[in-house]
Amino acid sequence: TSSLPIYTIEEVAKHCSLDSGVWVAYKGEVFDITEFVALHPGGDKILLAAGGSLEPYWGLYAVHQQDHILQILTEYKIGVL
Ligand code: HEM
Repeated sequence: TSSLPIYTIEEVAKHCSLDSGVWVAYKGEVFDITEFVALHPGGDKILLAAGGSLEPYWGLYAVHQQDHILQILTEYKIGVL
């Protein structure tokens, strides 16, 4: 994981739509979840977090605090903050 690129939060913020790609940050790591958006059981709500942090939303929607969901996220990891 140490070889993954370092991104700024400003770079993450540029990826805030399906056209630009959908990136999110979580606990200091960066994920390109563009391909997952259509697979999300919670539908388009996932786009609320596009270009920013998952923390505030996963705090509200506690269904996400499960190992198998963190595992999904890990598959999309592209870098660190
Ligand atoms: C449900 C994954 C982001 C809102 C789920 C479920 C998964 C998932 C696997 C099904 C959980 C279960 O039933 O056990 C993800 C991943 C995300 C993400 C990997 C980020 C990469 C978000 C965001 C929001 C959100 C940002 C809200 C702003 C919801 C809601 C449900 C849900 C409302 C419940 C859907 C239902 O059962 O009707 N998500 N989610 N999710 N998600 Fe997400």
